Amino acid sequence: MRICMVGTGYVGLVSGACFSEFGVTTVCVDKDEAKIARLRRGEIPIYEPGLEDLVSKNVRAERLSFTGDLNSAVRDADAVFIAVGTPSRRGDGHADLSYVYRAAEEIARGFDGYTVVVTKSTVPVGTGREVERIIRGIRPDADFDVCSNPEFLREGSAISDFMRPDRVVIGTESERARAMMGQLYRPLYLIETPVVVTTLETAELIKYAANSFLATKITFINEIADLCEQVNANVHDVARGIGLDGRIGRKFLHAGPGYGGSCFPKDTLALVRTAQDAGAPMRIVETVVDVNRLRKQSMAERIVSACGGSVDGKTIAILGVTFKPNTDDMRESPALEVIPALQAGGAQVRAYDPAGMAEAARLLQGVTWCQNAYEPLDGADAVAIMTEWNEFRALDLKRVKSLLRVPVMVDLRNIYKPPEMATAGFRYTSIGRPAGVATPEQD
Ligand code: UDX
Repeated sequence: MRICMVGTGYVGLVSGACFSEFGVTTVCVDKDEAKIARLRRGEIPIYEPGLEDLVSKNVRAERLSFTGDLNSAVRDADAVFIAVGTPSRRGDGHADLSYVYRAAEEIARGFDGYTVVVTKSTVPVGTGREVERIIRGIRPDADFDVCSNPEFLREGSAISDFMRPDRVVIGTESERARAMMGQLYRPLYLIETPVVVTTLETAELIKYAANSFLATKITFINEIADLCEQVNANVHDVARGIGLDGRIGRKFLHAGPGYGGSCFPKDTLALVRTAQDAGAPMRIVETVVDVNRLRKQSMAERIVSACGGSVDGKTIAILGVTFKPNTDDMRESPALEVIPALQAGGAQVRAYDPAGMAEAARLLQGVTWCQNAYEPLDGADAVAIMTEWNEFRALDLKRVKSLLRVPVMVDLRNIYKPPEMATAGFRYTSIGRPAGVATPEQD
């Protein structure tokens, strides 16, 4: 089988590399010639563990290739995936579909023989139908079907999410297209991956509903954390206590500074707008969007109050700036709210992140960027952990304390335990957990 992946962004590149690993001959296309040239040299433009090896292995095996020539790539393909960007349109929160529709037009002009055109980008309900209409308009007699095949890839673990998914969603009314998609995902049948076969519209909605539900779950536990702080309860234990109920599940109940990234903020907003337009407003998701926005803004206040009510003239060390670990992605990261707010309060900010600093330096001014986790702490009045990178999980606490001018730690990811921090002599605050009491025997 041969496929063509249109768009070599995050989703296109990961999906293309993984399909080629499944043994499918895959051509990835992008308009950006410089990007294609880099990919041909084996340079991977995104940070994703394991991706570079997977790409080079499959390029060597001649199953994976990159081109700027969409026409020839589409002509030979049995299935063409649209994996171009769908940014939030400025102002109204709707997904901007111009790239998707342009790709559909170009594909329409290029394909030859029966072809399945698959939307992989996250697109609003109805987009698949529109893609079908566009292609039919240009090629009234062509033999093709349109299918929606949403991705559920997390940055940082995208390859294993692709290779061992919880489920595959295939939205098409055509038996021929369904069979073709089944062929493509055949290696997953061995691990008995459930396949949800449904209509175009339903498949499109599944993606938005999944992401909005997860964003709701996170926001729910974040609000429980706020309540825990007022009533001296522990959110970690609440999450465990409710998560062990199989109907609820333990995942995505980790309280923190608010969700960020390229998907949840964009997809929740898009669902809200779609629902409003359809006359079936989703008030829960509307509230989630609002609560999460305010939460990210309020995180700086926690650091200010841990510093005694003002950060004016103080130095604050920040560990982690990306929206989550194992990515260099800064999109919608809480750090983008927190750092400017601290600076506006008169603080000097020194920061370190294992992968995100190049991008963060473009977005944040006046920050002193450091080379390791200890460097920003030197003489600082407080340290705030904003991203739960592994290398922050086992810091040498004695060294941390001796470097800080004042032993204040604000742990927005709850990676340390309050009693252990109290014992180590820190003024420690975290999310939704009572302050710890130092245990005498460890003093
Ligand atoms: C998400 C979805 O998980 C994926 O299925 C979809 O296709 C794309 O969007 P991603 O954005 O890469 O993936 O990251 P994810 O691991 O889901 O985390 C999203 C945000 O939620 C991060 O800011 C993370 O810190 C936050 N989060 C996640 C929490 O605050 N608590 C949790 O318990 C889980």
